[in-house]
Parts: sequence; structure tokens; C-alpha cells
Amino acid sequence: MPEETMPTALPGEDRTFQPSSEFRERSHVSDDSLYELANQDRLGFWEKQAEQLHWFKKWDRVLEWDAPYAKWFIGGKLNISYNCLDRHIQTWRRNKAAIIWEGELGGQRVLTYWDLYREVNKFANVLKERFGVKQGDRVTIYMPMIPELAIAMLACVRIGAAHSVIFGGFSADSIRDRVRDCDSKLIITADGGYRNGQIIPLKSIVDKALSSGNTPVEDVIVVRHIGEGAQVQLHEGRDHWYQQLMDDAPARCQAEELDSETLAFLLYTSGTTGKPKGIMHTTGGYLTGVTYTSKYVFDLKEDDVYWCTADIGWITGHSYIVYGPLSNGATTVMYEGSPGYPDKDRFWSIVEKYGVTILYTAPTAIRTFMSWGDDYPKGHDLSTLRLLGTVGEPINPKAWLWYHNVIGQANCPIVDTWWQTETGCIMISPLPGIAHTRPGSASRPLPGFEAEIVDQHGKPVESGTGGLLIIKSPWPSMLRGIYGDPDRYRDTYWSRFEGFYFTGDGAKFDEDGYYWLLGRVDDVINVSGHRLGTMEIESACVDHPSVAEAAAIGIDHEIKGQAIVAFVTLKLDGSSSRGVEEEIRQHVATRIGAFARPEQVIITAELPKTRSGKIMRRLLRDIATGRALGDTTTLADAAVVQKLKKKYEQLAE
Ligand code: WT7
Repeated sequence: MPEETMPTALPGEDRTFQPSSEFRERSHVSDDSLYELANQDRLGFWEKQAEQLHWFKKWDRVLEWDAPYAKWFIGGKLNISYNCLDRHIQTWRRNKAAIIWEGELGGQRVLTYWDLYREVNKFANVLKERFGVKQGDRVTIYMPMIPELAIAMLACVRIGAAHSVIFGGFSADSIRDRVRDCDSKLIITADGGYRNGQIIPLKSIVDKALSSGNTPVEDVIVVRHIGEGAQVQLHEGRDHWYQQLMDDAPARCQAEELDSETLAFLLYTSGTTGKPKGIMHTTGGYLTGVTYTSKYVFDLKEDDVYWCTADIGWITGHSYIVYGPLSNGATTVMYEGSPGYPDKDRFWSIVEKYGVTILYTAPTAIRTFMSWGDDYPKGHDLSTLRLLGTVGEPINPKAWLWYHNVIGQANCPIVDTWWQTETGCIMISPLPGIAHTRPGSASRPLPGFEAEIVDQHGKPVESGTGGLLIIKSPWPSMLRGIYGDPDRYRDTYWSRFEGFYFTGDGAKFDEDGYYWLLGRVDDVINVSGHRLGTMEIESACVDHPSVAEAAAIGIDHEIKGQAIVAFVTLKLDGSSSRGVEEEIRQHVATRIGAFARPEQVIITAELPKTRSGKIMRRLLRDIATGRALGDTTTLADAAVVQKLKKKYEQLAE
């Protein structure tokens, strides 16, 4: 059981905001009927949502719930790629922009639904015919934010193979761990990607991941994106240029008629142990969840230009750049690079250039823009925006209000959307046409979802009291398990409160029944909206030859939300050198990825522990935040924290 602190603080902002009557009138949802429908007949409600998709064969039964295992739309047959492409090219949407892509260097590509359909068909044939990829196989994708990433994903699900997308910020070691975990024989990558004007050498990182030879990977497909300037070595027999393969590929590849419960993808995410978990999502339920929420939460219309700024390497990009918008036949904007390149107004120039109407981004980005000042957004015409969204961590009221006033020009509802890799789709969020919003609150569970906030014993808390967020009934886009680890699936999510899903988040609700998410209560840190396990960081630290023991904690950070501080003890063999702190920081970046590099590494002679040997991270958090030390009575040696506190204060001076 992870060490846990019950959340307490409620952000102090109690103003409420209403959508304009114009927004409400035009919105997909202008009254409470969706909630009523779902309350009366939850399964019937989900069937109605599933009916929005194209099924080759309709399901016989809506749900089989044998806790903690759910099957949705049993007997039904469908294909995600068919729903995102084929059904649109049979309509006027054939020539509608599906993806508007903007490169960091300024290049632009627009793929209509027809273009995307053709590329996906061809690449599906490459996978199937050239590489023999079949239903059930796992294909790893490690790519920059370019259309070929979406093409690769859609091609996999078209033939019933499961993709495992690895965010381009992860290291070679992380790639190796993941391809081994899911026994993936094929990697799709690119010669590189641009980030902040620099080339990220993705192919070389893949080479490094495979250099030990000790992996299941047999083939690597390389998209040429950088071209000259990328130093790519092709390994004879193993590596293949994407463009060459595409030249020879037949133009049509029938979408497989897949069972609703076919594994659609794996996405690795951090938990409370050192090893990331391969979260499994399946076909019918996942697509139902993302199609429904994309339409209603973002109030998606035919003429919208919708832009989610996440990276497709995270669940937000899977659900709300690729599958949700495309399934709805929307136009989705995809930007390759960083928000500050070549200047700090890049996002606003993109909004202006394409006339973006819906913008979905993260609190950490909003705080960064805020710190850069109002002149950057003010220099651009943002008047096309009509709806704003946020995701990834609790948004502080100050950032919410800035987003509302400066970006939304007080004219756009904000949807603060709570969800997780595991939930597949948004679960708690305002419906923008009808909800009044409160800065810092994600409002209420959407129709179809049943959440509750409980105390340690599973008893519902009263309004205003902090507790743990649980989900009381299965939902279509819920994770189906952790790849290869059913015990961990049960332990992590379902053992805490019998029959209920435990989110790992703390929350409160107020007199209006509005939910206020208060951050993780387990050993998970949220750095700039990226999820990291303290254990994962600790194992990366102790992997350094000089380190004996490590304890990582998250501390509040003005821009990133949380930042990592690692306390480490060194081996007594004298192997460590001066500057070892910097080496350890770098070592963590090499083991996991640069985004996991600790803000600070602090060497200590000892770590505070209980008599049973458990590290008391709570006390480390007190030290690192300069708070008065909490209860120290269970410490084995009280002198340890006093010494550490003194050392920390000296370092800070
Ligand atoms: C964790 C899930 C869901 C896509 C991005 C992150 C935190 C997410 C919110 C929000 C407060 C939020 C939670 C959650 N979180 N959205 N609107 N308000 N907290 O996905 O990496 O699976 O992380 O992000 O702590 O458990 P993820």
C-alpha cells in the first residue's frame, strides 16, 4: 500500500462563469436530457452512443461485468480505422481536411479524409503483406508529431494489430523495456523530429535501444522526415525506408471486421512500482467513449478547426488528436514542435493562421504562456476561438482566469477535463453549453459515468471533505488490464475498494456537487502533465553505480505543477566523485527520458525510515518544502531528519 496523505486544500476561488446564450443555443447539449437519459438507463445510454459508430455486425449483449473484467458490446464487429476513414469518404467529407499539420520549421501539410484514407490503406498493406503483421501482433511506434504517426496507428488498427506508441521524449532504455514487455517485433520510427530548433535523432535512439541485440525486434521502418542533416545508418536487412515501401504498396486494404473486444492498443504509463504498465484498450468500447466525449465535451461541429496540443505519445493525443476527432469527421490540427519556437507566440500564430475554434491544452503550458506575458497572444487575432479545454493536472484558478480572459477573451467556455490513461476518455468535465464553470473545478462526471469520493474505509465523504476518487461502475473505454500482468491490474485498481475502480486521485466536492481534483494520493508525480512513479525515478537513481539508496518526491513547482527532488545515499566504497549529483540527474534522464530529470539531487548520509524500514517520503516532502516536520514518532532514528533538514537549509542558502 503506498504511503498516502489525504488531500485537504480547496483552491480559493468561488466565482462562477456561464456560457453565453449564443453558445448555449448552438451547442449540441442545451439541457439536462443527456444526464437524465444516462441516469434512467445507463447501459441503454451507452448503446445509444455506440450506435453512432459503424458496426459490421451489431452486438448481442451490451456488457458482461465479471469484476474487474469488463466486456462491452459483445458479439459486435467493427473497425476503428473504418470508422475514422471509410465512413467519411463515402460522404461529402471525402474532401474535408482531416489533419492540418504544421511543422516546427513552418512547413504545412493538409490531408483530406481521402488522402488519409489512401495513405492508411497503403501502409496497412505494407504491414500486412511485406512484414506479415497479423491480428493480435504488437507494433511499436516511436515517432515525431508528423501525419505518418497517425497513419501508422490507423494502419495497425485497420488490420487488427495493436500499436504501442512510445512518446518521442523517452530514452533508448525505455524503448527497450517496452518492446520486450510486449514482445514487439516491429518498430516504426523516423530519421528524426524537430524540437525547439534541434533535431531529435529518433532513429539513432532506436538503434541504441536495439544495440544489445537482446530484443524481439526484427524490423524497423524509418520515415524520412528530416532528410539531409539526419545521420541515419540503415542496418541491412533490419531497417527499411517508409517511403520506398509505400511506393510499392497496393492502394486498397480492406478494414478487418474485428470483435469489439479486440486489443486496439497498449500505452505504457507509470505507476507506483519501478516498472511502467502496459495499459490495454480494446476496440468497440474505446471508440464509443472517445467518439461520444469528443462530440459533447468539445461541442464538435463540422466547421470547427480543432486543436489539441498534446503529443500523440500520450493518451490525450491518442484519444483527442487522432481517434475521437477523426471518428467524428472533424478537422484536427497537429503541430510538430515546441510552443516557444521560433518565438513565444507560436501557438497564437497557429491559432490565427488556421482560424482554430477549439483549443485543448495543459495547465503547465498555460502557466508558461502566462509567465511569458500577454503581449504574445495579444499580437494575434484569436477571435475564431469559441471553446477552450485543459487537461493533465489540476488547474490553479489564477491560470484558469488568465486562460479565460487573455486567450478566450472572456468569450469562451473552459472545459477542465479530468481523466487518465486508464479511463481512455474524459470522465469528469463540464458540458460547455449548459454548465456554469468554476475556476479549478472539473465540475461533474459526464453522463454515463458514476464517480464517488470516499474516505479510507470506502464511506462517501461529505461536501468539503477531502477523499479518494473512485469509479463505481464499468464504462466502455475502461482499460481491460495491464499487459501480461493481471495481478497488478487487480491490485492497483480494484483491491482497495472491492468492486470499485480506484483512481489514485484525491478529490472533494462542493455544495453544488462540483468535483475539485486535488492531485495524486499515491507515489505518482505529475511533472508538466507527465506522469512518473517515484519508484521509477528511484530505480533509475540506484542504477547509477555510486548510489546506494534513493527516495524521490514531488514538490510544488510554479510552472511544471510538480518537480522532482531525489534524496540519495551513496555507496561507501568511495566510488563517487565530485559532481555526482549532476551525474545522477543525467543518469535518470538517460534511463527514462529528459523530462524525468530531477530538478535537484540531494546527497544524504541516511534516509528517514520507519522502524520497519519504510522510507518516510512525507518527511522528505516537509523538508523540501520548508514546512514544519510532521509526525516523526514512527521514525527509527529521529536525528536523521534533523540532520537532513539542516543540510537542505544550507544548500538552499
Ligand atoms: C492523472 C492521469 C488524461 C490525460 C493526461 C494525463 C491528473 C488529469 C486532470 C484534471 C486534475 C488531472 C490526475 C490523473 N489529471 N487531468 N483535469 N484535473 N488532475 O494522463 O498520464 O494518465 O495521468 O493526471 O492526477 O490521475 P495520465
